Amino acid sequence: MALPIVIDTDPGIDDALAIMLAAASPEVEIRGLVAVAGNVGIDDTSANAAALADLLRLDCPVGRGASGPLRRRDATAAHDVHGADGLGGHRLPASARTLEPGIALLARLVDESAEPVTVVPIGPLTDIALLMDERPAAARRIGRIVLMGGGARDVLGNVTPVAEFNVWFDPDAAARVFAFGVPITMIGLNATHQATVGRAHLLRLFASGGPVADLVGRLLDGYHGTDADGRGGMPQHDSLAVAAVVDPAVVTTVPAFVDVEDRGRLTSGMTVVDESGRFGAINAEVAVHVDVERFRDLLDTRLSVLDATLRRG
Ligand code: RIB
Ligand code: CA
Repeated sequence: MALPIVIDTDPGIDDALAIMLAAASPEVEIRGLVAVAGNVGIDDTSANAAALADLLRLDCPVGRGASGPLRRRDATAAHDVHGADGLGGHRLPASARTLEPGIALLARLVDESAEPVTVVPIGPLTDIALLMDERPAAARRIGRIVLMGGGARDVLGNVTPVAEFNVWFDPDAAARVFAFGVPITMIGLNATHQATVGRAHLLRLFASGGPVADLVGRLLDGYHGTDADGRGGMPQHDSLAVAAVVDPAVVTTVPAFVDVEDRGRLTSGMTVVDESGRFGAINAEVAVHVDVERFRDLLDTRLSVLDATLRRG
């Protein structure tokens, strides 16, 4: 029985790879995509999410979520990393889909599912916090939140020394999500920086040579993050979160108390991770180790199968 998931996303180059991995993995069933503002504005993240759904032939609904953070007024997009349009300049054919209001769609998908839904936020947590505020009963029905965000141990930040983009962009939302009480798995920078992927790790995909190979190759070539590993590898932030749902053995997690700094002059957006449990009740499983070869193999095999399927038309 495939696990029902809903992906909340700000595509976004690495978001696109994550959505492709989910589409290629029979262990999960994508019940919906909801776009949120983050890497680029909501118009572009919504258009990119819809276009990716078309490319991947997803028959799930697509929603348009929040256009900005709950409170923060100085959050800026990541055009420098993801390009003006969010996909490194590689525009996909525009979708004709009608997008639903994002929070209402999240609530509907969670409410109507017979099995608990796993929500996979891979952008700022604004939509998830709004769901918790506006539709708390629906939010409490979520089975687990597996989010890409924050940092722990040796890698804390990529926008500031201590703040990761998704949490930095909307720290108030992140604080609410961690405090709400739904089970959380946190895939932070300390994990994603172990999970670097370059062309050399996707040989089966590029041997397949179809539409997925073409897009992935262009996305990898178009990535301008400063966190690349210098050996042609791009840290796979969002697809590691999806991989942790598809194959939980890809990551090793530890229980921790996590809270979010939402007021600090220098520390706003920092995930404060206490593994001792002395400073708060355990509220998350935090990824601390990645089986990189297992992750790279999963990505290469799944994307190459998807590529062959789409190439056959
Ligand atoms: O810090 C990495 C995260 O920020 C990823 O989700 C990336 O897509 C950006 O949204
Ligand atoms: Ca993202």
